[in-house]
Amino acid sequence: YSSDQHDVLQAYEWSTKLFHHVLKHTKDGKDALNYLKNRGFSEEAIEHFQLGFSPRKDQFLAKFLQGKGFKPEKLQEYGLINSRDGNTFFDRFQGRVIFPIHNHQGKVVGYGGRSMVDDEQPKYLNSPESTLFQKGKILYNFHQARKHFQKSNTVVLFEGYADVIKAHQAGVYHAVATMGTSLSDTHVKILKQYVDEVIICFDGDKAGKNASYRTANMLKKAGLNARIANVPNEMDPDEYIEKFGSEPFRKQVIESAESYVAFALQYIKKDYNLNVDHDRVQYVEKSLDIIATVNQAVERDFHLKELEETFNLDRNTLNQEIEIRRRIMR
Ligand code: UTP
Ligand code: MN
Ligand code: MN
Ligand code: MN
Ligand code: MN
Repeated sequence: YSSDQHDVLQAYEWSTKLFHHVLKHTKDGKDALNYLKNRGFSEEAIEHFQLGFSPRKDQFLAKFLQGKGFKPEKLQEYGLINSRDGNTFFDRFQGRVIFPIHNHQGKVVGYGGRSMVDDEQPKYLNSPESTLFQKGKILYNFHQARKHFQKSNTVVLFEGYADVIKAHQAGVYHAVATMGTSLSDTHVKILKQYVDEVIICFDGDKAGKNASYRTANMLKKAGLNARIANVPNEMDPDEYIEKFGSEPFRKQVIESAESYVAFALQYIKKDYNLNVDHDRVQYVEKSLDIIATVNQAVERDFHLKELEETFNLDRNTLNQEIEIRRRIMR
């Protein structure tokens, strides 16, 4: 770290402690603490993830940090405080619940600040990208999740802060999140150093499904095994855990995650009208492309049998088509 960066890391450390204290022990933090409790965040999780609250005061943090001798211009550059004129500085995250974002070495380098009003925009105000904080290089909770990768040789990938924290409460500790952006090549490279398999557990809505397919393809291309967890009723994992509890989440969502092929064969159906002959043929062709990528003969057989039965096809023809595709791949 440069000496500027070193200072900023220290400022983030101070302000994280301050915001956490405000949340837990002051009148200013009461509403925020209730907000988190009503949403089902546990005391242990609030502690573990160092959640906080930035009070509704113009210069609460700005004054505190300047009093400690930090240069406000630097703090502004790294998103801790703001200024309109470059002279007077004010708190950036006023009135927001603070989700500290740690880099992979475990140092806080940014915040996601959640509004407590549900239709306020933006829902999360994040620290700006800086030399310390780049969404494309950091996975939320990686610094804590890494200790848990080895046991299962797997990581569970979520979209958001709330999902990771609720997963932790549900006993799923090998959990990280992309923080709303797409998984980057850098993210993939990092994960590949630790695990062979990624369980994608995105929101159950359409956007989440589309992102799951894109992400799974990326992971596969990089040689990682991808499985896709299905969160029903368009819920997100956080909502699912609140509604159904920890054990159903572990058993019916995470442990029941589908294989890439099973997910893909289902997902691509949306592009075809399976009542029309032409589309049925196209769908089968595309399905064969996907099944041919499977290296285990038994798994291929399983999916081929399904095609054979669903579309009343000749199994020898299907086998030949798979052979052709696999020969080309070699
Ligand atoms: P979601 O909209 O799914 O939010 O965005 P969420 O995680 O479910 O949040 P809660 O449960 O309503 O509190 C997923 C992730 O995208 C990023 C955040 O990292 C969020 O966790 N995001 C979303 C932003 O950075 N800014 C936003 O305004 C919204
Ligand atoms: Mn813990
Ligand atoms: Mn979403
Ligand atoms: Mn969500
Ligand atoms: Mn949510």
